[in-house]
Amino acid sequence: MLTSASSGLDRILTLELVRVTERAAVAAARLRGRGDEKAADQAAVDAMRSELNRLPIQGTVVIGEGERDEAPMLYIGEEVGTGEGPGVDIALDPLEGTTICAKNLPNSLAVIAIAEKGSLLNAPDIYMDKIAIGPGYADGLVDIDAPPADNIARLAKAKGVPVGEITACILDRPRHARLIEAVRATGAAIQLIGDGDVAGIIHTTEPGATGIDIYIGTGGAPEGVLAAAALRCIGGQMQGRLQINTEEKRARAERMGISDPGKVYSMEEMASGDVLFAATGVTDGSLLAGVKFGRDSVQTHTIVMRSSSRTVREIKARHQDLEKF
Ligand code: FBP
Repeated sequence: MLTSASSGLDRILTLELVRVTERAAVAAARLRGRGDEKAADQAAVDAMRSELNRLPIQGTVVIGEGERDEAPMLYIGEEVGTGEGPGVDIALDPLEGTTICAKNLPNSLAVIAIAEKGSLLNAPDIYMDKIAIGPGYADGLVDIDAPPADNIARLAKAKGVPVGEITACILDRPRHARLIEAVRATGAAIQLIGDGDVAGIIHTTEPGATGIDIYIGTGGAPEGVLAAAALRCIGGQMQGRLQINTEEKRARAERMGISDPGKVYSMEEMASGDVLFAATGVTDGSLLAGVKFGRDSVQTHTIVMRSSSRTVREIKARHQDLEKF
């Protein structure tokens, strides 16, 4: 089997990973627009799990569908893969944006990241404050603790455009009312998204195509780790801070090895070492097309990448063996 000289992860896994997100995306897409989040999510989970179990890895799910008592499949700690091959940690979200898929709105994805053992932040399923920008900027240009107006002004200056030409992506939630007001007061534009901040963060890496320069706000911590894994591969900057604001969350975080509740995590602290990341579009989006069902085939669009080589591949596939799908 091929191995990379530069890291412990098997490079053949990069392409194997595509099958995993393709299968999950197609399963979820069959239930697009049906108003049933749970059914779409379950279909994606089943499909992802069965494909994952064909991979030659000794995988442990560290970011998954929930803790063991709340998720029957792909729970945190579940062992996946054939049991042969490298030991790896896995972060996954078989259907990121369950509501978007149920409503057939843009940017729902099937997502997975694989990393060397111990290199993904084992984040509990709580909220995380996040800030992210794409590649090509000086390190530390934006800071999660700086006022939004400062971050936007620095970004505009570094991009060489007036503040009015910057667009921030923010989840449309009441908790973001003050953030939205502060960003609007700068003159910058906001793209409010209903769900799906993994896509929102990835979109900062291609502002020319997506129109998004910066992601700011609070979303799921598991999604934060997945987005950090993606940015490690494509480039960009991200910081995250877990919202540990109750005793119960503090205890949960501590059980997962997190002792400093106020810590700001850099992208590298959320996903270190060699990381592989793949995402397949379920519904159409700014970077990835959704699954297309034809009479004799199914088409998928996937992005797959690896941090150690920084290779980003886009794979448009036409699947004709429909029994598999
Ligand atoms: P699901 O796919 O689990 O529905 O998550 C969608 C999502 O929008 C994430 O992208 C985001 O991080 C999180 O939910 C935000 O949580 P909330 O809906 O509680 O604001």
